[in-house]
Amino acid sequence: MTDQPAADATTRPNVARMYDYFLGGSHNFAADRAAAERVLEIFPETGMAAQTNRHFLRRAVRYAAAQGVRQFLDIGAGLPTQGTVHEVVRTVAPDARVVYVDYDEVAVTYARELLTDVPGTAVVQGDLRRPDDLLAHPDVRGTLDLDRPVAVLLLAVLHFVSDADDPWAAVARLRDATVPGSHLVLSHLTLDGIPPELAERGQAIYRNSSAPLVPRTHAETLRFFTGYDLVEPGLVETTRWRPDGDSELVDSHGYAGVGVRR
Ligand SMILES: C[S@@+](CC[C@H](N)C(=O)[O-])C[C@H]1O[C@@H](n2cnc3c(N)ncnc32)[C@H](O)[C@@H]1O
Repeated sequence: MTDQPAADATTRPNVARMYDYFLGGSHNFAADRAAAERVLEIFPETGMAAQTNRHFLRRAVRYAAAQGVRQFLDIGAGLPTQGTVHEVVRTVAPDARVVYVDYDEVAVTYARELLTDVPGTAVVQGDLRRPDDLLAHPDVRGTLDLDRPVAVLLLAVLHFVSDADDPWAAVARLRDATVPGSHLVLSHLTLDGIPPELAERGQAIYRNSSAPLVPRTHAETLRFFTGYDLVEPGLVETTRWRPDGDSELVDSHGYAGVGVRR
């Protein structure tokens, strides 16, 4: 990455760019790479877990499209990587509309560059913790018809929102803004089964980054699906959600599920 953003952007590890590094991308700075390498020392499988999460995105987006969903709201979309939502969904539904949301300026800037000539898509700078502002954004309203089903994608983002910010209330607000038949596609980090001292070392790295790392239990993650009917196989370890052969069988440290709004 050669651009010169504000000094803080280059000195403070940023969770969007650390994830880009885990995925083998080049949109990251030395501070991001150093922090990501410290995570990899503790959890060497993190890169594979990130890939596994992207594979779940592909399977779940295709699933929602197969159910007839043609609108996608990808919140915490991150830096543009291969296999973005519109690329995946338009192989089966060329008319699908996609709004990408992230609160990170660098992620939004790059996504806008990538998508500038892609009709039916929009990139919005918005914060999951302020769902009403996000839903009222003119580019969200101009791209999506909230009177028709929408798939709300919350992949690997809720674990950057602390309990104090009540992410369950934010997800419920998004649910209430959508009509029955809408989908919730969600993946979430867990450190269930990980020795507490390792979990603490991992979380300590993120304490100096742009967002805290908040792993959650299965029960805590399941609560996000209140008001949704989970499709089979329910909320499961990420690799176990409808594997189609392209998913690596690794410990993803994640739960994943898809729900349909009642
Ligand atoms: C680990 S990346 C996940 C990217 C993508 N969703 C995926 O699963 O591959 C997390 C992204 O969430 C974004 N993010 C974190 N907290 C957010 C918030 N409160 N509102 C919007 N985006 C947020 C970060 O900037 C980052 O780009």
